Amino acid sequence: MGTKIAPSLLSADFGKLAAEIDDVTRGGADWLHLDVMDGHFVPNLTFGQPVIKSLRAVSSLPFDVHLMVEDPDSMLESFAAAGADWLTVHVETCPHLHRTLERIRKLGCKAGVSLNPATPLAQVEEVIELADLILVMTVNPGFGGQEFIARAASKLERLRRLSDERQPECLLQVDGGVGEQNAGRLITLGADVLVAGSEIFGKSDREEAIRRLRSAADLAYSARRPSGRDNGA
Ligand code: DX5
Ligand code: ZN
Repeated sequence: MGTKIAPSLLSADFGKLAAEIDDVTRGGADWLHLDVMDGHFVPNLTFGQPVIKSLRAVSSLPFDVHLMVEDPDSMLESFAAAGADWLTVHVETCPHLHRTLERIRKLGCKAGVSLNPATPLAQVEEVIELADLILVMTVNPGFGGQEFIARAASKLERLRRLSDERQPECLLQVDGGVGEQNAGRLITLGADVLVAGSEIFGKSDREEAIRRLRSAADLAYSARRPSGRDNGA
């Protein structure tokens, strides 16, 4: 399957979103990561369904929608209708996570679930079979350009083991403070999808930024043991 690079539009120039998307598309992005923030669950506001719907009309990249909102359950239909391919909710916002993930799949989207840095892995254990993607936040959500939280690496490593055992098709994603310096290590620890905002949109040459991330990721991926297999045999 290989690794995927998902530029986060949060660090793009909001005055020219279509051109920014075009730039990373030509630069080789696999997905587009769209950070929806409501000013309640996280202390920042970004964009919602109408903007995503307009962007859907100008992009053919898979839309990876990261919902950082207090009440995602009330918005699943509208984000699916706006053009989300992947819909990721935070466990911290979903009292009935089992139902939420089932609903996302019924809407025809891939179901993602995210864990804040302070949230233990145990919060997804009972629903992992219903998840197509698990996002390990490697910063506290709300802003781009923050420093990677080192402790999150161990959560990713433990999640890889859990996922290999229970839901090997599930993609593991990391988001926050991802750059060329840690991309390889994150893939080695088990990540499949790297979200990067400032590392890509903060550079003038986005193609070069994506290429650098991808080469670090691919190198680590080719050295990674095939998932679920033991090398002791
Ligand atoms: C943070 C968002 C991220 C953000 C990452 O709450 O979920 O997607 O854009 O930004 P960087 O890659 O700059 O840390
Ligand atoms: Zn995000």
